[in-house]
Amino acid sequence: MKAVNLFTLLLSCIVLFSSCLTDGGDVATIVYTPDQLQTLQKTLNLDDERVDYSIKLPAHMASQGASTSSIDNHKALLGRVLFYDNKLSKNDAVNCSSCHEQALAFSDDVAFSKGFEDEHTKRNSLALGAVVSFEASYDNPGGGARSLFFWDERAETIQEQSNLTIQDNIEMGMSFSELVPKLEVVDYYDVLFSKAFGDDRITEDRITDALEEFVNSMVSANSKFDQGVIENHGNSFGDLPNFTEKENLGRELYSLNCSSCHGDDLVRLNRASANNGLDLVYEDKGRYDVTQSSVDKGVFKVPVLRNIELTAPYMHDGRFATLEEVVDHYSDNIQAHPNLDFQLQENFSGPPIKMNFTDNEKEALVDFLKTLTDYEFIAEAKFSNPFK
Ligand code: HEC
Ligand code: HEC
Repeated sequence: MKAVNLFTLLLSCIVLFSSCLTDGGDVATIVYTPDQLQTLQKTLNLDDERVDYSIKLPAHMASQGASTSSIDNHKALLGRVLFYDNKLSKNDAVNCSSCHEQALAFSDDVAFSKGFEDEHTKRNSLALGAVVSFEASYDNPGGGARSLFFWDERAETIQEQSNLTIQDNIEMGMSFSELVPKLEVVDYYDVLFSKAFGDDRITEDRITDALEEFVNSMVSANSKFDQGVIENHGNSFGDLPNFTEKENLGRELYSLNCSSCHGDDLVRLNRASANNGLDLVYEDKGRYDVTQSSVDKGVFKVPVLRNIELTAPYMHDGRFATLEEVVDHYSDNIQAHPNLDFQLQENFSGPPIKMNFTDNEKEALVDFLKTLTDYEFIAEAKFSNPFK
């Protein structure tokens, strides 16, 4: 017995040591054995290089309390392959990227996305890659609103969200009792699960864990706005040096009228959910579906506005095709819904605010919103489709 234990100990030391040598960052980039690499490369565009999924937040985000967890590279890579794999849907028709396309900051360009049997989702696809979403699955020591996942915030973590999405009878229609054996016979998953978890056992928990790791690694932090804040020594207030005059006017209008919900610094939200007066009566009751509380009728998650230029159409039902239409709504058209957020009421308790922007101000707000686009993020190879 003792000898066996010693042997196991020795073996695990060797395994540990060699994995330090191969995966330990700066030392070496060799990740797979030649056999493993051959298996992977039959189907996937992967090199024998360590892909670094760790998150490096610029100082202005870190100092605003955006929390990062350390990302495990092998789990995130497995998550990426799962994200793009049609096998996750019942009839091999869709994968996560069908409704979360990288070029669109991982959103979709239609109001309602098509699921595995061409049925449409009930709500507009949400963009991924925002620090707040990322942050939401962790405690939020920096303060700000802790937002949960989906328009009605019915999921606490991305693991929970992925679990619901895979089994959703419009989106992917899969059950884990079918999915696990379906993935067990796929050779590249032998390699990828072993790398991520130490052995090739596939479980529901491991699948969603890897997906969470990948989605959490998607952090968009290099927009023109971020570059401006960096140039401005981390300060998001005042004029930004790399902005046009109009963009700076838009930023000021944003601070005055929008940031009380969507966040001053685009790092943290100031409100997790709210009613923003789209209708007098909502067809989709939003958060009420989850809480059954009448104050939640018509209340929806406050979306993160990073990459907003790329994620049209807008709102939970994709009713607005353009940012101009969104700004028109806030300027002139907020409805007196009983749950309308107090920040959108005259004197915090009266009729809906009329922001009455001039045409120039409307253009300025849209110009500012377009500074939130991160072109590096949407072209980043480590988030792209790995399938040949
Ligand atoms: C058929 C389209 C479709 C597919 C496939 C799909 N999604 Fe989604 N996703 C949506 C829609 C629509 C929403 C918003 C749904 C809602 O709020 O009720 C959403 C919401 C999300 C959210 C919440 C974002 C937030 O800020 O709250 C995450 C994360 C997400 N999806 C990740 C994934 C992952 C991971 C997969 C693959 C396992 C996936 N999605 C597959 C359409 C899809
Ligand atoms: C009281 C909080 C609040 C304020 C203030 C506010 N918003 Fe919103 N915003 C929301 C909520 C909630 C939604 C989602 C509503 C829905 O879909 O039903 C939203 C949605 C949006 C969207 C669509 C996002 C997407 O992914 O579809 C944009 C763009 C937007 N707001 C911009 C603005 C601008 C610009 C201002 C200022 C002029 C502003 N918001 C002020 C709460 C607010």
